[in-house]
Amino acid sequence: MERTLILVKPDGVQRGLMGEIVGRFERRGLKLIGMKFIQMDESLANRHYAVHKERPFFNDLVSYITSGPVLAMVWEGNEAVAAARSTIGATKPVEAAPGSIRGDFGMEIGRNLVHGSDSPENGVKESNLFFKPEELVSWSRATESWICE
Ligand code: RTP
Ligand code: MG
Repeated sequence: MERTLILVKPDGVQRGLMGEIVGRFERRGLKLIGMKFIQMDESLANRHYAVHKERPFFNDLVSYITSGPVLAMVWEGNEAVAAARSTIGATKPVEAAPGSIRGDFGMEIGRNLVHGSDSPENGVKESNLFFKPEELVSWSRATESWICE
């Protein structure tokens, strides 16, 4: 079972798209195990995007992600990372498939609405960066056998 950290970034929050975005992961069949509405500070943004530290867009990225509140979530499922990334769509919204979140709502890479972990290892690491173990909920979903064989 994989976990992925999903963030509705500040543009998604400001544009009133939180419900729309949560609904897409929910309808896909991923299982929500954690959720919080937070303002990321620079320290958390630096740790979350540490891999991009040397990139030219790093400062803009940190300003963007700390510019307003984000909705942070952990979703669980078989191949949750790949499932979530296809629901999110390509990094550049103009290249994202219609039907994906970025393909339906985005125009620019620096306003691409959603973050999703890029590997199962990072799914665990990023979930632990945003959530304490006791903030993640283990629960049985009544519809489980209609979503997974
Ligand atoms: P994310 O981490 O946010 O889920 O996005 P991603 O995997 O699709 O893209 P990634 O390569 O990890 O880049 C992280 C975020 O940095 C911003 N970015 N800007 N100006 C640029 O060339 C550029 N490249 C990346 C985007 O907000 C991207 O989501
Ligand atoms: Mg990424």
